Amino acid sequence: MSPTSCHCSTPQFYNLDYMPIFLFVKFFFSSQRTRKIFSLCSLCALWLISCATLPTQSPETIPAPTLAPALIAQGRAIYDTNCAICHGARGEGQPNWKIQLPNGTWLAPPHDSSGHTWHHPDFLLLDIIANGGQSENSQMPAFKDKLARDQIRAALEYIKSFWNDEAREIQWTITQRYPTPTPTPLR
Ligand code: HEC
Repeated sequence: MSPTSCHCSTPQFYNLDYMPIFLFVKFFFSSQRTRKIFSLCSLCALWLISCATLPTQSPETIPAPTLAPALIAQGRAIYDTNCAICHGARGEGQPNWKIQLPNGTWLAPPHDSSGHTWHHPDFLLLDIIANGGQSENSQMPAFKDKLARDQIRAALEYIKSFWNDEAREIQWTITQRYPTPTPTPLR
């Protein structure tokens, strides 16, 4: 997923994976100088080839668009006034948010990368903000009567600024895959 993870799903690469070990062993145990040089050159060539052919990101994710600074600024003001009290000033959520309360409700989850907000597509997040939490007696209020659609969008844009690159890319991929409610609702 991340550009640094360098994992490759093509079976051919797994075979190539063992090649450097083989060449390394050959380099140390071969007696002839020319053979040693040949092994060393092959090792270098292989390293160069793999660097050139390795995908910089796995093909199944879609790069996320750059966040709009003006929208973030607008969203920040909306978030600080309406959301920070429960979700935290930097989206850190309420302590022990993973533990269900005795009355069956939940505390506000984090909106940063440590939470699960980025596991959901845009349409679902916008829907939760507008219509409130879906679980019974949810403490997440509905904001559709208080905030306009574009204000809700701005708040979501600000939330996205809490996410690291990997979370943003995964969330954007999910958003593209589920642009509207699916026949089997995700929630
Ligand atoms: C009174 C506390 C409270 C306020 C204020 C609040 N939330 Fe929430 N929010 C919650 C709780 C609790 C949940 C967990 C939902 C549930 O249990 O149904 C939640 C869930 C969410 C989710 C779904 C997160 C996920 O990971 O699935 C989003 C998105 C969200 N809130 C956005 C907002 C935004 C944006 C605002 C401000 C406009 C806001 N919330 C204001 C308490 C709050």
